[in-house]
Amino acid sequence: MSTYVLMRILESAPRRYDLGMWLLTFGSLGHAYDRLASRIHDGQRALDLGCGTGALTLRAAGRGAHVSAIDVNAQMLEIARESAQAAGLAEKIDFREMGIAELGGEASASYDVVMSGLCFSELSEDEIHYALKQIKRILRPGGPLLIADEVKPPDVLRRMLHALSRAPLVALAYVITQQTTHAVENLPEKVTHAGFSIESLRLNTLRSFVELVARAPGQAA
Ligand SMILES: C[S@@+](CC[C@H](N)C(=O)[O-])C[C@H]1O[C@@H](n2cnc3c(N)ncnc32)[C@H](O)[C@@H]1O
Repeated sequence: MSTYVLMRILESAPRRYDLGMWLLTFGSLGHAYDRLASRIHDGQRALDLGCGTGALTLRAAGRGAHVSAIDVNAQMLEIARESAQAAGLAEKIDFREMGIAELGGEASASYDVVMSGLCFSELSEDEIHYALKQIKRILRPGGPLLIADEVKPPDVLRRMLHALSRAPLVALAYVITQQTTHAVENLPEKVTHAGFSIESLRLNTLRSFVELVARAPGQAA
């Protein structure tokens, strides 16, 4: 999953983003998103953070959810809108050019489910802390938080292998986009510390990619 560094490059060419991500992950990212989306049910109010071209958004809408999909990148949103239209799902989705920093404007307990694919690894530590605090507030009690993202492996050997495999890609991504991405340190612990309880956790062999389902505190209504 170290190839996620290349997503920065692909984001700078949004029209090639979906094909690029599929090739880079040999389709495995799509399977991770399918598993997470299977937690979403008809009629639920869902929020997709950093929706990009809509990989999770369209899956959620396809399962009957009403989705708010936010992203700071207008070009990615444009492609997501086109895909939603082509899939006949446009009416179920509200795409908004909006950053995570603006989540404070969302009403409390206004979502049944919040999801995020490969967005936490683009946030600073402060943004992650803020995002988790806001997600806990805007999720209904007991509502699921679904995350798929690149994480730092826990042990030295895997970290070295991960860093080595990332290095050329980090350099390439930086040369092309002047931006980089970073695997998130202790993401499950951050989620727990923010007050969520982890329901399921799935890591790849290198323990550098996590699929996580967590629950907001409180009893479901
Ligand atoms: C690697 S892409 C993943 C897109 C999509 N979730 C997917 O899995 O295909 C990360 C997305 O997060 C968005 N993003 C990064 N920082 C953000 C922020 N602070 N608020 C909202 N979106 C953000 C980027 O614009 C980009 O579209």
